[in-house]
Amino acid sequence: MKRITIAIDGHSSCGKSTMAKQLAHELGYIYVDTGAMYRTVTLYALREGLFSPDGHLDEKRLQQDMQEGRVRVSFQLNPATHLPEPCLNGEVVEGSIRGIEVSGRVSIIAALPFVRTSMTAQQQQMGREGGIVMDGRDIGTVVFPHAELKVFVTARAEVRAQRRYDELMAKGQPAAYEEILANVRERDYIDSHRSVAPLKQADDALLLDNSDLTREEQSQWLLEKAREAMAE
Ligand code: DC
Repeated sequence: MKRITIAIDGHSSCGKSTMAKQLAHELGYIYVDTGAMYRTVTLYALREGLFSPDGHLDEKRLQQDMQEGRVRVSFQLNPATHLPEPCLNGEVVEGSIRGIEVSGRVSIIAALPFVRTSMTAQQQQMGREGGIVMDGRDIGTVVFPHAELKVFVTARAEVRAQRRYDELMAKGQPAAYEEILANVRERDYIDSHRSVAPLKQADDALLLDNSDLTREEQSQWLLEKAREAMAE
């Protein structure tokens, strides 16, 4: 069977990563979480103090650091889970990029053209031989406009906020539901309204609203669509 490219885009916190990961595992494909790449750059900016206390970013410094190779984003396979984990200059940072601090700043980083150009080129390189499931916001529209299967995932904002809240609580990271809901809404707005590669459903993407679907129903639907696309 053909080893295809599968683009999974959609709103934040609607379970894209979980479903993309599972699909890649079922198909024996590589999985790439592109949001983790933008989060990793954000972590760099936070660690280097590139955000002022009022949230202003020193873009020039970030651009210079990226150009001079001081912000290397890569993935490393976790030998126990067999999942790729994001690295910043060789250090695995999976555990540091999911909290509210990075989540609250990542949209600013992801809206910068020089960051997007660099991440997009890296993503295209990773997917050049197919056999890949990539999740993000612009995979079907910008990174792989010719992907054989494109899925656009969404769910109601309240459902997504609750899921993220449960996730953080399960990890022992205290959070306030209202704050998360506000963050989800704010990110939807910024992601869909930025000038470079805004979040939007590609014309040929299949829409999946999983607000009222179980994980099982969702993965069956996705696997079926993937098999259809691979058989074409
Ligand atoms: O999927 P996520 O929540 O981990 O993504 C983090 C942020 O990165 C989110 O605000 C949108 C942005 N992003 C993007 O602009 N383009 C992508 N391909 C993936 C994520």
